[in-house]
Amino acid sequence: MTHRTAPTPEQKARTARPPAASTSRARALATRQVHAGYTPGVPQNTVAVPVYQSVAYEFADFATARDTFALSRPGNIYSRNGNPTNAVLERRVNDLEGGAGALALGSGQAAVAVSLLTLIAAAGPGTHHFVASNKLYGGTSDLLGDSFADLGIEVTFVDPLDTEAWRGAIRDTTRGFFLESIGNPVLTVPDLRAIADVAHAAHIPVVVDNTMATPVLLRPFEHGADIVVHSATKYLGGHGTAIAGVIVDGGTFDFTARPARWPRLTEPYPRFDGIVFTDAFDGSEGRTPFLVLARAKSVHDLGPTLSPTNASQILLGIETLELRVRRQTATALELARFLDERHEVARVHHPGLDGHPEHELVSNLLPEGLGSVFSFDLAGDPDVVETFIDSLELFALVANIGDVRSLVVHPATTTHSRLDEAGRADAGIGLTTIRLSIGVEDPDDLRADLAQALQAVARATAAATEAPAPH
Ligand SMILES: Cc1ncc(COP(=O)(O)O)c(C=O)c1O
Repeated sequence: MTHRTAPTPEQKARTARPPAASTSRARALATRQVHAGYTPGVPQNTVAVPVYQSVAYEFADFATARDTFALSRPGNIYSRNGNPTNAVLERRVNDLEGGAGALALGSGQAAVAVSLLTLIAAAGPGTHHFVASNKLYGGTSDLLGDSFADLGIEVTFVDPLDTEAWRGAIRDTTRGFFLESIGNPVLTVPDLRAIADVAHAAHIPVVVDNTMATPVLLRPFEHGADIVVHSATKYLGGHGTAIAGVIVDGGTFDFTARPARWPRLTEPYPRFDGIVFTDAFDGSEGRTPFLVLARAKSVHDLGPTLSPTNASQILLGIETLELRVRRQTATALELARFLDERHEVARVHHPGLDGHPEHELVSNLLPEGLGSVFSFDLAGDPDVVETFIDSLELFALVANIGDVRSLVVHPATTTHSRLDEAGRADAGIGLTTIRLSIGVEDPDDLRADLAQALQAVARATAAATEAPAPH
Protein backbone atom coordinates (compact mmCIF):
# COMPACT_ATOMS: atom_id res chain seq x y z
CA MET A 1 0.00 0.00 0.00
CA THR A 2 2.42 2.66 -1.17
CA HIS A 3 -0.10 5.43 -0.75
CA ARG A 4 0.09 4.89 2.98
CA THR A 5 3.84 5.15 3.24
CA ALA A 6 4.78 7.82 0.67
CA PRO A 7 4.95 11.23 2.34
CA THR A 8 2.15 13.55 1.37
CA PRO A 9 3.01 17.07 0.13
CA GLU A 10 1.71 18.22 3.52
CA GLN A 11 4.20 16.02 5.35
CA LYS A 12 7.01 16.96 2.99
CA ALA A 13 6.32 20.66 3.42
CA ARG A 14 6.26 20.22 7.17
CA THR A 15 9.52 18.33 7.27
CA ALA A 16 11.19 20.25 4.42
CA ARG A 17 14.52 21.70 5.43
CA PRO A 18 15.05 25.42 4.91
CA PRO A 19 15.56 26.05 1.18
CA ALA A 20 19.32 25.44 0.98
CA ALA A 21 22.47 26.03 2.93
CA SER A 22 23.71 28.33 0.14
CA THR A 23 20.75 30.66 0.67
CA SER A 24 21.09 31.44 4.36
CA ARG A 25 20.14 35.07 3.66
CA ALA A 26 16.47 35.82 4.20
CA ARG A 27 14.60 35.64 0.94
CA ALA A 28 12.65 38.61 -0.32
CA LEU A 29 8.87 38.72 -0.42
CA ALA A 30 8.91 38.58 -4.24
CA THR A 31 10.60 35.18 -4.00
CA ARG A 32 8.54 33.87 -1.12
CA GLN A 33 5.24 34.79 -2.80
CA VAL A 34 6.07 32.13 -5.41
CA HIS A 35 7.71 29.44 -3.27
CA ALA A 36 6.75 29.65 0.42
CA GLY A 37 4.77 26.82 1.94
CA TYR A 38 4.86 24.37 -0.94
CA THR A 39 7.32 21.64 -1.80
CA PRO A 40 6.24 19.78 -4.95
CA GLY A 41 5.91 16.26 -3.64
CA VAL A 42 3.06 14.33 -5.21
CA PRO A 43 4.10 11.36 -7.37
CA GLN A 44 2.83 13.29 -10.44
CA ASN A 45 5.44 16.05 -9.83
CA THR A 46 3.00 18.91 -10.30
CA VAL A 47 4.88 22.18 -10.11
CA ALA A 48 1.70 24.16 -9.40
CA VAL A 49 -0.13 23.53 -6.12
CA PRO A 50 -2.70 20.77 -6.74
CA VAL A 51 -6.35 21.32 -5.89
CA TYR A 52 -7.17 18.62 -3.36
CA GLN A 53 -10.88 18.38 -4.09
CA SER A 54 -11.60 15.96 -1.27
CA VAL A 55 -14.11 16.21 1.55
CA ALA A 56 -12.34 13.77 3.84
CA TYR A 57 -9.06 11.90 4.37
CA GLU A 58 -8.20 8.27 4.85
CA PHE A 59 -6.32 7.66 8.09
CA ALA A 60 -3.28 5.37 7.96
CA ASP A 61 -4.56 3.35 10.90
CA PHE A 62 -6.74 3.39 13.99
CA ALA A 63 -4.20 5.16 16.21
CA THR A 64 -3.71 7.94 13.66
CA ALA A 65 -7.44 8.60 13.47
CA ARG A 66 -7.75 8.62 17.27
CA ASP A 67 -4.76 10.92 17.81
CA THR A 68 -5.71 13.33 15.04
CA PHE A 69 -9.21 13.73 16.44
CA ALA A 70 -7.73 14.20 19.91
CA LEU A 71 -5.64 17.09 18.45
CA SER A 72 -2.44 15.44 19.66
CA ARG A 73 -1.29 14.76 16.09
CA PRO A 74 -1.57 17.28 13.24
CA GLY A 75 -3.27 16.01 10.13
CA ASN A 76 -6.23 16.22 7.80
CA ILE A 77 -9.57 15.10 9.16
CA TYR A 78 -12.36 16.70 7.18
CA SER A 79 -12.23 19.64 4.78
CA ARG A 80 -14.52 21.86 6.82
CA ASN A 81 -11.60 22.32 9.24
CA GLY A 82 -8.64 22.02 6.91
CA ASN A 83 -7.54 20.94 3.44
CA PRO A 84 -4.05 20.41 1.92
CA THR A 85 -4.54 23.11 -0.77
CA ASN A 86 -5.80 25.54 1.85
CA ALA A 87 -2.82 24.58 4.02
CA VAL A 88 -0.41 25.82 1.32
CA LEU A 89 -2.31 29.13 1.22
CA GLU A 90 -2.10 29.32 5.02
CA ARG A 91 1.66 28.72 5.04
CA ARG A 92 2.23 31.20 2.22
CA VAL A 93 0.25 34.09 3.72
CA ASN A 94 1.75 33.33 7.12
CA ASP A 95 5.21 33.51 5.59
CA LEU A 96 4.51 36.83 3.85
CA GLU A 97 3.11 38.38 7.03
CA GLY A 98 5.84 36.94 9.26
CA GLY A 99 3.39 35.19 11.61
CA ALA A 100 3.41 31.97 13.64
CA GLY A 101 0.58 30.26 11.75
CA ALA A 102 -2.54 30.93 9.69
CA LEU A 103 -6.07 29.78 9.02
CA ALA A 104 -7.76 30.14 5.62
CA LEU A 105 -11.50 30.84 5.54
CA GLY A 106 -14.35 31.21 3.07
CA SER A 107 -14.29 35.03 3.01
CA GLY A 108 -12.66 38.09 4.51
CA GLN A 109 -15.86 38.59 6.47
CA ALA A 110 -15.39 35.10 7.96
CA ALA A 111 -11.78 35.93 8.84
CA VAL A 112 -12.89 39.02 10.78
CA ALA A 113 -15.77 37.18 12.48
CA VAL A 114 -13.78 34.05 13.37
CA SER A 115 -10.79 35.98 14.71
CA LEU A 116 -12.98 37.99 17.09
CA LEU A 117 -15.34 35.14 18.01
CA THR A 118 -12.31 32.99 18.87
CA LEU A 119 -11.13 35.66 21.31
CA ILE A 120 -14.63 35.55 22.83
CA ALA A 121 -14.47 31.75 22.89
CA ALA A 122 -11.09 31.91 24.61
CA ALA A 123 -12.57 34.24 27.23
CA GLY A 124 -15.38 31.79 27.98
CA PRO A 125 -18.95 32.61 29.00
CA GLY A 126 -19.67 36.15 30.22
CA THR A 127 -19.98 39.70 28.99
CA HIS A 128 -17.25 40.70 26.55
CA HIS A 129 -16.29 43.91 24.83
CA PHE A 130 -14.17 45.10 21.91
CA VAL A 131 -12.85 48.52 21.01
CA ALA A 132 -12.91 49.09 17.25
CA SER A 133 -12.06 51.80 14.78
CA ASN A 134 -15.03 53.79 13.47
CA LYS A 135 -13.46 53.79 9.99
CA LEU A 136 -14.03 50.23 8.85
CA TYR A 137 -15.21 48.39 5.76
CA GLY A 138 -19.05 48.53 5.81
CA GLY A 139 -19.50 44.75 6.24
CA THR A 140 -17.27 44.81 9.31
CA SER A 141 -19.27 47.72 10.76
CA ASP A 142 -22.45 45.69 10.20
CA LEU A 143 -20.94 42.66 11.96
CA LEU A 144 -19.59 44.59 14.94
CA GLY A 145 -22.43 47.09 15.29
CA ASP A 146 -25.41 44.83 14.58
CA SER A 147 -24.78 41.07 14.67
CA PHE A 148 -22.37 41.27 17.62
CA ALA A 149 -24.98 43.33 19.50
CA ASP A 150 -27.49 40.52 18.84
CA LEU A 151 -25.04 38.11 20.48
CA GLY A 152 -24.55 40.39 23.50
CA ILE A 153 -21.00 41.32 22.46
CA GLU A 154 -20.39 45.00 23.13
CA VAL A 155 -18.29 47.19 20.84
CA THR A 156 -17.13 50.77 21.39
CA PHE A 157 -16.21 52.57 18.16
CA VAL A 158 -13.46 55.20 18.36
CA ASP A 159 -11.62 57.52 15.99
CA PRO A 160 -8.62 55.39 14.94
CA LEU A 161 -6.40 58.48 14.82
CA ASP A 162 -7.12 59.38 18.46
CA THR A 163 -4.89 57.07 20.53
CA GLU A 164 -6.28 58.44 23.81
CA ALA A 165 -9.80 57.47 22.70
CA TRP A 166 -8.64 53.83 22.46
CA ARG A 167 -7.25 54.05 26.00
CA GLY A 168 -10.41 55.71 27.33
CA ALA A 169 -12.69 53.02 25.86
CA ILE A 170 -11.01 50.09 27.66
CA ARG A 171 -13.14 48.17 30.15
CA ASP A 172 -12.38 45.17 32.40
CA THR A 173 -14.29 43.08 29.90
CA THR A 174 -12.36 44.29 26.81
CA ARG A 175 -10.96 41.28 24.94
CA GLY A 176 -9.59 42.91 21.79
CA PHE A 177 -8.85 46.00 19.72
CA PHE A 178 -9.85 45.89 16.03
CA LEU A 179 -8.70 48.27 13.29
CA GLU A 180 -7.70 48.42 9.64
CA SER A 181 -4.07 49.24 8.81
CA ILE A 182 -5.34 51.53 6.03
CA GLY A 183 -8.97 52.62 6.33
CA ASN A 184 -11.19 52.45 3.28
CA PRO A 185 -12.16 54.66 1.42
CA VAL A 186 -10.38 57.83 2.61
CA LEU A 187 -7.09 56.14 3.57
CA THR A 188 -7.11 56.68 7.31
CA VAL A 189 -3.76 55.43 8.64
CA PRO A 190 -3.72 54.94 12.43
CA ASP A 191 -0.55 54.94 14.51
CA LEU A 192 -0.45 51.17 14.93
CA ARG A 193 2.48 51.09 17.37
CA ALA A 194 0.91 53.67 19.71
CA ILE A 195 -2.45 51.85 19.72
CA ALA A 196 -0.77 48.47 20.27
CA ASP A 197 1.16 49.90 23.23
CA VAL A 198 -2.11 51.09 24.80
CA ALA A 199 -3.68 47.65 24.24
CA HIS A 200 -0.73 45.69 25.57
CA ALA A 201 -0.45 47.83 28.71
CA ALA A 202 -4.00 46.61 29.48
CA HIS A 203 -3.28 43.02 28.34
CA ILE A 204 -5.54 43.24 25.28
CA PRO A 205 -4.69 41.64 21.91
CA VAL A 206 -4.71 43.78 18.74
CA VAL A 207 -6.39 42.46 15.59
CA VAL A 208 -5.50 44.31 12.36
CA ASP A 209 -7.24 43.99 9.00
CA ASN A 210 -4.33 44.33 6.55
CA THR A 211 -6.39 43.88 3.38
CA MET A 212 -5.73 47.34 1.97
CA ALA A 213 -1.98 47.45 2.64
CA THR A 214 -1.09 43.81 1.91
CA PRO A 215 2.18 42.43 3.35
CA VAL A 216 3.98 44.05 0.41
CA LEU A 217 3.47 47.52 1.90
CA LEU A 218 3.00 46.83 5.63
CA ARG A 219 3.51 43.92 7.98
CA PRO A 220 1.43 44.77 11.08
CA PHE A 221 3.32 42.31 13.32
CA GLU A 222 6.35 44.61 12.97
CA HIS A 223 4.24 47.38 14.54
CA GLY A 224 2.69 45.54 17.48
CA ALA A 225 -0.31 43.69 15.99
CA ASP A 226 -1.04 40.25 17.48
CA ILE A 227 -3.45 38.89 14.88
CA VAL A 228 -3.77 39.92 11.22
CA VAL A 229 -6.79 39.27 9.03
CA HIS A 230 -7.22 39.56 5.27
CA SER A 231 -9.94 39.63 2.73
CA ALA A 232 -7.88 37.53 0.29
CA THR A 233 -10.64 38.34 -2.20
CA LYS A 234 -8.89 41.67 -2.86
CA TYR A 235 -5.17 42.05 -3.61
CA LEU A 236 -4.03 38.55 -2.63
CA GLY A 237 -6.30 36.99 -5.26
CA GLY A 238 -6.10 40.12 -7.38
CA HIS A 239 -8.21 38.94 -10.30
CA GLY A 240 -11.77 39.14 -9.01
CA THR A 241 -12.39 35.40 -9.26
CA ALA A 242 -12.59 34.04 -5.71
CA ILE A 243 -13.85 35.09 -2.28
CA ALA A 244 -11.51 34.07 0.55
CA GLY A 245 -10.11 35.18 3.87
CA VAL A 246 -7.11 34.44 6.07
CA ILE A 247 -6.31 34.86 9.77
CA VAL A 248 -2.64 35.01 10.71
CA ASP A 249 -1.59 34.64 14.35
CA GLY A 250 1.62 36.45 15.21
CA GLY A 251 2.00 34.17 18.25
CA THR A 252 2.99 37.30 20.19
CA PHE A 253 0.12 37.63 22.61
CA ASP A 254 0.77 35.82 25.90
CA PHE A 255 -2.58 34.43 27.00
CA THR A 256 -0.92 32.95 30.10
CA ALA A 257 0.09 36.37 31.47
CA ARG A 258 -3.49 36.89 32.75
CA PRO A 259 -4.79 33.30 32.63
CA ALA A 260 -8.12 34.08 34.32
CA ARG A 261 -9.08 36.25 31.34
CA TRP A 262 -8.68 33.37 28.89
CA PRO A 263 -9.89 30.24 30.73
CA ARG A 264 -10.66 28.29 27.55
CA LEU A 265 -6.99 28.47 26.58
CA THR A 266 -5.32 28.32 29.99
CA GLU A 267 -7.51 25.82 31.89
CA PRO A 268 -8.52 22.24 31.04
CA TYR A 269 -11.23 22.36 28.34
CA PRO A 270 -13.67 19.50 28.99
CA ARG A 271 -14.91 19.46 25.37
CA PHE A 272 -11.40 18.60 24.21
CA ASP A 273 -10.58 15.86 26.76
CA GLY A 274 -9.36 18.40 29.30
CA ILE A 275 -6.57 19.76 27.12
CA VAL A 276 -4.99 23.00 28.31
CA PHE A 277 -4.41 24.68 24.94
CA THR A 278 -1.55 26.90 26.08
CA ASP A 279 0.28 23.80 27.41
CA ALA A 280 -0.57 21.48 24.54
CA PHE A 281 0.27 23.74 21.56
CA ASP A 282 3.58 25.51 21.33
CA GLY A 283 3.06 26.94 17.84
CA SER A 284 5.12 24.31 16.06
CA GLU A 285 3.78 23.59 12.57
CA GLY A 286 1.65 26.71 12.86
CA ARG A 287 -0.43 25.22 15.67
CA THR A 288 -0.68 28.12 18.09
CA PRO A 289 -3.22 27.80 20.93
CA PHE A 290 -5.35 30.56 19.35
CA LEU A 291 -5.38 28.95 15.89
CA VAL A 292 -6.10 25.44 17.17
CA LEU A 293 -9.07 26.82 19.10
CA ALA A 294 -10.20 28.79 16.02
CA ARG A 295 -10.02 25.69 13.82
CA ALA A 296 -11.31 23.05 16.24
CA LYS A 297 -14.09 25.16 17.74
CA SER A 298 -15.03 28.28 15.75
CA VAL A 299 -14.60 26.84 12.24
CA HIS A 300 -15.79 23.37 13.24
CA ASP A 301 -18.96 24.76 14.87
CA LEU A 302 -19.79 27.61 12.46
CA GLY A 303 -18.51 26.16 9.16
CA PRO A 304 -17.10 29.21 7.27
CA THR A 305 -14.96 26.95 5.10
CA LEU A 306 -12.84 27.92 2.08
CA SER A 307 -13.15 25.68 -0.98
CA PRO A 308 -9.79 24.34 -2.23
CA THR A 309 -10.62 25.57 -5.75
CA ASN A 310 -10.89 29.11 -4.44
CA ALA A 311 -7.72 28.62 -2.39
CA SER A 312 -5.87 27.69 -5.57
CA GLN A 313 -7.16 30.85 -7.30
CA ILE A 314 -5.83 32.94 -4.41
CA LEU A 315 -2.48 31.10 -4.51
CA LEU A 316 -2.19 31.87 -8.22
CA GLY A 317 -2.87 35.53 -7.48
CA ILE A 318 -0.31 35.70 -4.69
CA GLU A 319 2.43 34.60 -7.10
CA THR A 320 2.26 38.07 -8.70
CA LEU A 321 1.20 40.06 -5.63
CA GLU A 322 4.34 42.15 -5.29
CA LEU A 323 4.47 43.07 -8.99
CA ARG A 324 0.84 44.11 -9.04
CA VAL A 325 0.83 46.03 -5.77
CA ARG A 326 3.95 48.02 -6.62
CA ARG A 327 2.68 49.01 -10.04
CA GLN A 328 -0.86 49.72 -8.85
CA THR A 329 0.48 51.79 -5.94
CA ALA A 330 2.70 53.90 -8.20
CA THR A 331 -0.08 54.47 -10.74
CA ALA A 332 -2.55 55.40 -7.98
CA LEU A 333 -0.24 58.10 -6.61
CA GLU A 334 0.36 59.44 -10.12
CA LEU A 335 -3.39 59.65 -10.77
CA ALA A 336 -4.03 61.19 -7.32
CA ARG A 337 -1.55 63.95 -8.22
CA PHE A 338 -3.26 64.41 -11.58
CA LEU A 339 -6.71 64.73 -9.98
CA ASP A 340 -5.35 67.10 -7.32
CA GLU A 341 -4.52 69.60 -10.10
CA ARG A 342 -7.95 69.55 -11.73
CA HIS A 343 -10.50 72.30 -11.10
CA GLU A 344 -13.37 69.78 -11.37
CA VAL A 345 -12.00 68.08 -8.21
CA ALA A 346 -12.54 69.62 -4.76
CA ARG A 347 -10.28 67.33 -2.72
CA VAL A 348 -8.18 64.20 -3.11
CA HIS A 349 -7.97 61.87 -0.07
CA HIS A 350 -4.50 60.43 -0.51
CA PRO A 351 -1.97 60.90 2.31
CA GLY A 352 0.82 60.24 -0.18
CA LEU A 353 0.23 63.78 -1.52
CA ASP A 354 2.54 66.48 -0.16
CA GLY A 355 0.62 68.74 2.18
CA HIS A 356 -1.83 66.05 3.31
CA PRO A 357 -2.14 66.33 7.16
CA GLU A 358 -1.07 62.70 7.66
CA HIS A 359 1.68 62.75 5.06
CA GLU A 360 4.48 62.58 7.68
CA LEU A 361 3.09 59.69 9.77
CA VAL A 362 2.16 57.76 6.65
CA SER A 363 5.58 58.19 5.09
CA ASN A 364 7.15 56.62 8.21
CA LEU A 365 4.70 53.74 8.53
CA LEU A 366 4.21 53.01 4.83
CA PRO A 367 7.39 54.20 3.09
CA GLU A 368 6.57 52.13 0.02
CA GLY A 369 3.16 53.68 -0.54
CA LEU A 370 -0.50 53.30 0.30
CA GLY A 371 -1.80 50.85 -2.26
CA SER A 372 -4.13 51.45 -5.14
CA VAL A 373 -7.38 52.55 -3.52
CA PHE A 374 -8.10 56.21 -2.89
CA SER A 375 -10.99 58.64 -2.98
CA PHE A 376 -11.65 62.16 -4.15
CA ASP A 377 -14.52 64.64 -3.97
CA LEU A 378 -15.83 66.13 -7.18
CA ALA A 379 -16.43 69.88 -7.03
CA GLY A 380 -19.98 71.13 -7.38
CA ASP A 381 -23.40 69.62 -7.18
CA PRO A 382 -23.85 65.89 -6.29
CA ASP A 383 -25.51 65.47 -9.74
CA VAL A 384 -22.08 65.62 -11.38
CA VAL A 385 -21.22 62.21 -9.90
CA GLU A 386 -23.55 60.40 -12.29
CA THR A 387 -22.11 62.20 -15.32
CA PHE A 388 -18.57 61.41 -14.21
CA ILE A 389 -19.12 57.71 -13.51
CA ASP A 390 -21.22 57.07 -16.61
CA SER A 391 -18.61 58.80 -18.79
CA LEU A 392 -15.75 56.51 -17.70
CA GLU A 393 -14.80 53.90 -20.27
CA LEU A 394 -11.97 51.92 -18.69
CA PHE A 395 -13.00 52.09 -15.01
CA ALA A 396 -15.66 49.49 -14.24
CA LEU A 397 -18.45 50.43 -11.81
CA VAL A 398 -17.83 47.65 -9.29
CA ALA A 399 -18.07 47.36 -5.50
CA ASN A 400 -14.69 45.69 -5.08
CA ILE A 401 -11.05 46.69 -4.68
CA GLY A 402 -7.60 45.29 -5.39
CA ASP A 403 -8.45 43.89 -8.83
CA VAL A 404 -6.16 43.99 -11.88
CA ARG A 405 -8.94 46.04 -13.51
CA SER A 406 -9.47 49.65 -12.50
CA LEU A 407 -12.72 50.09 -10.60
CA VAL A 408 -14.87 53.02 -9.55
CA VAL A 409 -17.65 53.25 -7.00
CA HIS A 410 -19.77 55.95 -5.36
CA PRO A 411 -19.64 54.98 -1.65
CA ALA A 412 -22.64 57.10 -0.53
CA THR A 413 -25.07 55.17 -2.78
CA THR A 414 -23.39 51.75 -2.70
CA THR A 415 -20.79 50.42 -0.24
CA HIS A 416 -21.68 52.87 2.55
CA SER A 417 -25.34 53.48 1.64
CA ARG A 418 -26.61 51.98 4.92
CA LEU A 419 -24.84 54.61 6.99
CA ASP A 420 -26.82 57.69 8.00
CA GLU A 421 -25.43 61.14 7.29
CA ALA A 422 -23.54 61.28 10.60
CA GLY A 423 -22.06 57.83 10.02
CA ARG A 424 -20.99 58.82 6.51
CA ALA A 425 -19.44 62.00 7.86
CA ASP A 426 -17.53 59.92 10.49
CA ALA A 427 -16.28 57.70 7.69
CA GLY A 428 -15.15 60.81 5.76
CA ILE A 429 -17.60 60.23 2.91
CA GLY A 430 -19.57 63.02 1.23
CA LEU A 431 -22.18 62.92 -1.54
CA THR A 432 -19.57 63.74 -4.19
CA THR A 433 -16.92 61.32 -2.87
CA ILE A 434 -15.78 58.82 -5.48
CA ARG A 435 -13.58 55.80 -4.74
CA LEU A 436 -11.14 54.43 -7.27
CA SER A 437 -9.25 51.15 -7.17
CA ILE A 438 -6.43 51.38 -9.66
CA GLY A 439 -5.58 48.30 -11.70
CA VAL A 440 -2.53 47.29 -13.69
CA GLU A 441 -3.51 49.03 -16.95
CA ASP A 442 -1.26 51.59 -18.61
CA PRO A 443 -1.22 54.76 -16.43
CA ASP A 444 -1.55 57.09 -19.45
CA ASP A 445 -4.69 55.28 -20.61
CA LEU A 446 -6.20 55.58 -17.14
CA ARG A 447 -5.30 59.27 -16.91
CA ALA A 448 -6.87 59.91 -20.31
CA ASP A 449 -10.05 58.13 -19.21
CA LEU A 450 -10.31 60.22 -16.03
CA ALA A 451 -9.57 63.39 -18.03
CA GLN A 452 -12.33 62.79 -20.57
CA ALA A 453 -14.84 61.99 -17.78
CA LEU A 454 -13.87 65.22 -15.98
CA GLN A 455 -14.34 67.13 -19.24
CA ALA A 456 -17.83 65.64 -19.47
CA VAL A 457 -18.46 66.94 -15.95
CA ALA A 458 -17.19 70.39 -16.92
CA ARG A 459 -19.47 70.43 -20.00
CA ALA A 460 -22.49 69.32 -17.97
CA THR A 461 -21.80 71.94 -15.29
CA ALA A 462 -21.41 74.68 -17.91
CA ALA A 463 -24.63 73.61 -19.64
CA ALA A 464 -26.52 73.66 -16.34
CA THR A 465 -25.20 77.16 -15.56
CA GLU A 466 -26.13 78.45 -19.01
CA ALA A 467 -29.58 76.86 -19.02
CA PRO A 468 -32.37 79.45 -18.90
CA ALA A 469 -33.96 79.78 -15.48
CA PRO A 470 -37.32 77.97 -15.28
CA HIS A 471 -40.33 80.31 -15.39
C1 LIG B 1 -10.95 45.85 4.41
C2 LIG B 1 -11.92 44.72 4.18
N1 LIG B 1 -12.01 43.75 5.10
C3 LIG B 1 -12.86 42.71 4.94
C4 LIG B 1 -13.67 42.63 3.83
C5 LIG B 1 -14.61 41.47 3.69
O1 LIG B 1 -14.04 40.57 2.77
P1 LIG B 1 -14.90 39.58 1.83
O2 LIG B 1 -15.64 40.40 0.86
O3 LIG B 1 -13.82 38.73 1.25
O4 LIG B 1 -15.79 38.81 2.73
C6 LIG B 1 -13.60 43.60 2.85
C7 LIG B 1 -14.47 43.53 1.65
O5 LIG B 1 -14.62 44.47 0.91
C8 LIG B 1 -12.70 44.69 3.02
O6 LIG B 1 -12.59 45.67 2.11
